[in-house]
Amino acid sequence: MAPKKILLTRIFPSLAIRLLEDAGFEVTSWDKEHPMPYDQMISVAKSCDALFCTLTDKIDRNFLNACSHLDIITQFAVGYDNIDIEEATKLKIPIGYAPNAMNEATADIAFGLMIATARKMFFMNQKIKNGKWGYFDPVGHLGLELKGKTLGILGLGRIGMVMAQRCKGAYDMEIIYHNRSANPKAEKEMRAKRVDFDTLISQSDVISVHCALTPETQGMFNTSVFEKMKPTALFINTARGAIHNEEDLIDALNNGTIWGAGLDVTNPEPMKPDNPLLEMENVCVLPHIGSATITARNEMARMGATNIISFYKHGKVPYIVNPEGL
Ligand code: DGY
Repeated sequence: MAPKKILLTRIFPSLAIRLLEDAGFEVTSWDKEHPMPYDQMISVAKSCDALFCTLTDKIDRNFLNACSHLDIITQFAVGYDNIDIEEATKLKIPIGYAPNAMNEATADIAFGLMIATARKMFFMNQKIKNGKWGYFDPVGHLGLELKGKTLGILGLGRIGMVMAQRCKGAYDMEIIYHNRSANPKAEKEMRAKRVDFDTLISQSDVISVHCALTPETQGMFNTSVFEKMKPTALFINTARGAIHNEEDLIDALNNGTIWGAGLDVTNPEPMKPDNPLLEMENVCVLPHIGSATITARNEMARMGATNIISFYKHGKVPYIVNPEGL
């Protein structure tokens, strides 16, 4: 029997290709640094059996119907808001993903951004590069301390849990969270308290966003929410840029409605180099590197390859978003 053909839409860690080829699959991999153009992705996918894609690929209704022959799609990410899951399920296409692979890596970026923002690190580093390292300044650019402050987590799942543990351990922070369901482990281990959304935003000194992008969370952090936050609050987003409204965030930072923001995700991505957020003293921006460690990216590659191999060899997808699509 001819080998099954797998399309990899980006340059993924070589482990993915090795695992797939060792298992007898034929791999076609997009070899440019930028994402595969949509129409090209459709035309190449038409001659393949399975797709290994990521968050920069639009796997919408149109794509899925044009490529409804695909046996399986697996996503190189834990988030899958770029994929129309409902349509895929209707078409009986199983969707795999990579849960847990980046828990530590992403929590590190959230934790790092929290400290960097509290101490204006990116802005101060920029000053040195611009030749503006003046004398030691007893009252200049003072930051905030985090010891004993309240951390509010929106979406206390796997990544949020690691962020909470970091903050509890390092700064003995109080943990409050807003979730659809309770997290008994966090309540037991860290005395975390589940609160309603208004309490979360009004009582937190640091808000860290770890939820998925859904129609309910899209644009959730807007002017009316920033206005309910403390003027000393830090807003940290390592989940998806579309969860905050960027114009409203810029206004809130300019007006002193909130104190600072640490962002690993923006809307759109990539962020334009003239975005005002990049010039702000109390803002630290990173280019979506939450999962960018060797360990996490290899694990994401392994999970995707395992999903495809296991699907064809055993009819099972170990890391699956829509079991009803199988
Ligand atoms: C994810 O996994 O969803 C991250 O945003 C990228 O690793």
